[in-house]
Amino acid sequence: MEKIIIFDTTLRDGEQSPGASMNVQEKLRIARQLERLKVDVIEAGFPIASQGDFEAVQKIAGEIRTVQIAALARANAQDIDRAWEALRGAEEPRIHTFIATSDIHLKYKLKKGREQVLETAVSAVERACRYTPNVEFSAEDASRSDLKFLCRVLEAVIKAGATTINIPDTVGYAIPQEFGERIRYIRENVPNIHNAILSVHCHNDLGLAVANSIAAILNGARQVEATINGIGERAGNTSLEEIVMTICTRRDILPFTTGVVTEHIYATSRLVSLITGMVVQPNKAIVGTNAFAHEAGIHQDGILKEPSTYEIMTPDSIGIRQSSLVLGKHSGRHAFRERLKELGYRLKEEELDKVFHRFKEVADKKKEIYDEDIEAIIADEILRIPDKYKLVYLNVVSGSVVVPTATVQMEVDGKITQSAGFGVGPIDAAYNTIAHIVKTKSKLLRFSVDSITGGTDAQGEVTVKIEEDGKTVVGQGTDPDIITASAKAYINALNRLEHLKKRSPKS
Ligand code: KIV
Ligand code: ZN
Repeated sequence: MEKIIIFDTTLRDGEQSPGASMNVQEKLRIARQLERLKVDVIEAGFPIASQGDFEAVQKIAGEIRTVQIAALARANAQDIDRAWEALRGAEEPRIHTFIATSDIHLKYKLKKGREQVLETAVSAVERACRYTPNVEFSAEDASRSDLKFLCRVLEAVIKAGATTINIPDTVGYAIPQEFGERIRYIRENVPNIHNAILSVHCHNDLGLAVANSIAAILNGARQVEATINGIGERAGNTSLEEIVMTICTRRDILPFTTGVVTEHIYATSRLVSLITGMVVQPNKAIVGTNAFAHEAGIHQDGILKEPSTYEIMTPDSIGIRQSSLVLGKHSGRHAFRERLKELGYRLKEEELDKVFHRFKEVADKKKEIYDEDIEAIIADEILRIPDKYKLVYLNVVSGSVVVPTATVQMEVDGKITQSAGFGVGPIDAAYNTIAHIVKTKSKLLRFSVDSITGGTDAQGEVTVKIEEDGKTVVGQGTDPDIITASAKAYINALNRLEHLKKRSPKS
């Protein structure tokens, strides 16, 4: 069976989702998990975009040894040189350069003619090839490009040395049959196509990204670009878990393999969701909480008699174990570590110390600790890494006869500062005081509280969205005390905003 190369772009296109910006440590953690998942290529970032992006690519390139590491660059010398600088430590580096080929982009965005774009693309590929033979070229907005011109560009860049050519449906406009035919046309009309891998990169604006990618595979594409949970620009990208499980489940009409260890899919999805704060919708295929839940009596009866009556794949195959009551306050460190391993987390000793300490604190307040509680603790203590602001202390007084008052102590760039303030309620008081300490101009757009498990002693999970100068970020925090969870979520969002502010605008 032929192999489909899985190119993961969670850390690049995925990070372009509104609110999903990640810092270097967070990206490194996801990259380690993607290596465990055994994707073939990790697109680690866009090094020219910011110092943070550059460092993330450099760190990932330096640490991840078994997966190719790609970095994005526009088709110009400065971008390509910067991408190489970040990538040079990688075991198998790939420069991914792109330029738009549709008339609409040429006329309004690039203000260039077709011949100029063709020459720019060729020069970019030639420059990238001076650094590495592993060069990918993307024809941005390929699905709306004139086919004959697109084929001319592709032929020229392959001749210049591109070893992967990528056909993006940048605006998620294509329909499966049409997209498949486009791929077939390229395969049949670019004379040197056999010298390169044909790749696709689909966006999900019409909800067709996975369907378009499948149509492309059936017509000759051998690399698919995708993201975990389908996150990405606007409506997102092809969902990695959906494309991989479709290939696994429908081998009868898709006689292909991927290198992905599907049993790590669920843990990877949770990790990305916990780090980015982007919640997975319950009915999301493969990784949504309802994806394997059978509600109707007829279905439950069928499943009990024979799982294949209503289940086309097993929860085990993507690494979902039955959610169970796991630990309590008497559980020891060893049992705790084993449970973490089962959940897919391998922590360093000092990280385990931190998480175990917090587990004991939560277990003192809450009798029953579920997997979801453990994941929330890990997210709070280990995954969401503060850049600038840290909560040290919070005390809130509220009730029916007092003016809600908050006293907050924070670490700002390593220096302790504190303040007190009022509000119409306890959360408002805490937020006003935090805003005063960090002197933020941001506006709170959304605030929501959820309980992680059932019961009034459940941990609260707070998600906030804030905005400043058109930049939006999401923050999350958890704690058995919802005021503390709210403060943590706000501070997490403020840290992300600081990180995002350091980035320069993209093309
Ligand atoms: O959607 C797109 O066209 C892209 C390219 C840079 C590959 O993300
Ligand atoms: Zn894209």
